Amino acid sequence: MNVSQAVAKRMSIRAFLDVPIPKSTIEDILTKAVRAPSGGNVQPWQVHVVTGAPLQAFVADIAIKFRAGKLEPAKFESYPKNLWSPHREYRFENGEALYETLGLKREDKLGRIEQFANNFRFFGAPIAMFFTFDKRFEEAAWSDVGMFMQTIMLLATEAGLATCAQRCWLRFRNSIAEFLGLDENSSVLCGLAMGYADENAPINQLKTERAKLENFTNFIGFE
Ligand SMILES: Cc1cc2nc3c(=O)[nH]c(=O)nc-3n(C[C@H](O)[C@H](O)[C@H](O)COP(=O)(O)O)c2cc1C
Repeated sequence: MNVSQAVAKRMSIRAFLDVPIPKSTIEDILTKAVRAPSGGNVQPWQVHVVTGAPLQAFVADIAIKFRAGKLEPAKFESYPKNLWSPHREYRFENGEALYETLGLKREDKLGRIEQFANNFRFFGAPIAMFFTFDKRFEEAAWSDVGMFMQTIMLLATEAGLATCAQRCWLRFRNSIAEFLGLDENSSVLCGLAMGYADENAPINQLKTERAKLENFTNFIGFE
């Protein structure tokens, strides 16, 4: 599989098979992924890989908190409240298309909450990753960690695995910090589910759209 094929094949998977992944597979992916670039090569990332009984215990604890409505306040909005065009349409179409795969209507609030709750089970994935960075790097680390994450997702694709990046975990960032035993300088940036895709799951049938080249590109100085 070449890079173009991996980029084209990667998609967010939200239903996984209950098949364990050997540690050596994860080690291989991460060893390769650390070639990702970072400003000044400071490599500001830390990745915490969780599986098995500790993952089950953590997810069970989060489920109790979720049902009790004990989500932590968002530090920032994932999307601005009054999202503008064309991003509003991109987001709306994506959300509706996702719920459509599950047959969830707009008014089925409970069904939609249930789908959101699925995030906090890592969609049944056997591997959970949390990406953290040292706060002293400030916002400079965000792009670096993002590139590291995408490199991991592409290498996972090459290895026949599937992934879903999950920013929703920021709503439990203190629970994560406690679970991982993070020091006061560490900040949670994102979660990631990894495993074998359940190819038959309706939610995994969604291939998302993208804007056309002319809608996001500004060429200057070309013939
Ligand atoms: C930083 C980041 C955070 C994301 N957080 C979530 C999330 O919390 N839950 C979720 O289901 N998908 C999440 N996604 C997946 C996006 O919804 C998905 O990438 C987007 O709709 C494009 O679809 P594709 O990944 O299938 O190409 C996230 C993606 C990124 C890059």
